[in-house]
Amino acid sequence: MRRIGLLYDIHIVSELRSGYRQDGVEITETAIDKLNERDVDWTVVGGDLRTYITPTADSAETLATWEGDENNVHYRQDFVRAKELLDERLQEDYYIIRGNNDRPIDIYREVFPAKNYPLWFWFEDAGARFVFLDSNPHQGYHHLTETQNFVSAPQLSMLDRLMDRDPDIPTFVFIHAPLAKHPEVTEDWESGYRGSYYITANYPAVQRVLERGNTILVNSGHFFPDEGRGSNTVRGVTYALGRHLVRSGDPDERNAGDVRWMDVDTETRRAVVRYYDIGEDEEGVLATSSW
Ligand SMILES: [Fe+2]
Repeated sequence: MRRIGLLYDIHIVSELRSGYRQDGVEITETAIDKLNERDVDWTVVGGDLRTYITPTADSAETLATWEGDENNVHYRQDFVRAKELLDERLQEDYYIIRGNNDRPIDIYREVFPAKNYPLWFWFEDAGARFVFLDSNPHQGYHHLTETQNFVSAPQLSMLDRLMDRDPDIPTFVFIHAPLAKHPEVTEDWESGYRGSYYITANYPAVQRVLERGNTILVNSGHFFPDEGRGSNTVRGVTYALGRHLVRSGDPDERNAGDVRWMDVDTETRRAVVRYYDIGEDEEGVLATSSW
C-alpha cells in the first residue's frame, strides 16, 4: 500500500511581498500538517507553487506580465520561499509537477534544477506506475501562454513507450490542468475563456494513450473558481479534480479548499482519493477505483 499526498495549487508568494493578499503560506502549512498527520509515503506538489500576480506588492495592474520585474526578482523569490516551505515542513519526499503559474522555466530552473526536478518523469513503486506530466511546458512569459495547457509531443511519446513496455501495470497520473471535462462539477467546459483555460487543450490525445494501458486514476487541480470538486470516469479511466486549495489567491483559511491524499493498494486492487477541505474543516472521499 502506498499513501500519496496531493498538494496542488499552493500559490506561495515571497516574503518580499509579505502581507500581500495572495499569500498561500498559512493554508499550505495547514495542508502539509494534514499530510504529515496522515503519514503519507510521499507527496505530489501538483503545480502552481507560486501565484499568478507578477510584479510588486502594490501593483496588481500588470497582472500576468513581467513588467516592473525585469530581473525576475519576484518569480525567483516566490520559488525560493515555496521550496523552503516544502523542504522544512513535509516529513517525507515530494515530487513537483509544474502548473501554469510556475513560469518562466529558466527562473524555475534556478531553484529547481533539471537534475533533481525533471519536468516530466515516471517511476514504479509498490507494484504501481506513477507518471508525472507537465501541462504547461513552455517558457511562459506572456499572458496568452497561460491559456495553453497542453501535453507536449515528447510527453505523449513517453506515455506511448510506457504503455508498450507494460500495458498491465496499474498506472496513476498526476498533472496540473484537467485531462477530462468534469460535467459533474460544471456543465460549461467550452465557452470563451473557460474553453481554453480550464482543460488541457489536447486532452483527447492524452486520453487515448492512457487508455492503451491500465491507467486507473488521474489527479489534477488548477480549476479555481471554487465550483467544487468531482470525479468522472471516461472509458475506464477515473479523473479526479480537487477543490482549488488557495482560492483565487485568498489567504483566509476559511475560504481554502482541498488537500488530498490517495491510497493505492495493489493487493486489494483498489485506489481511494480522500480530501480534507480546510475551509469547511471536513473530510470525504473524492474518488475510488478498482481493477
Ligand atoms: Fe493553475
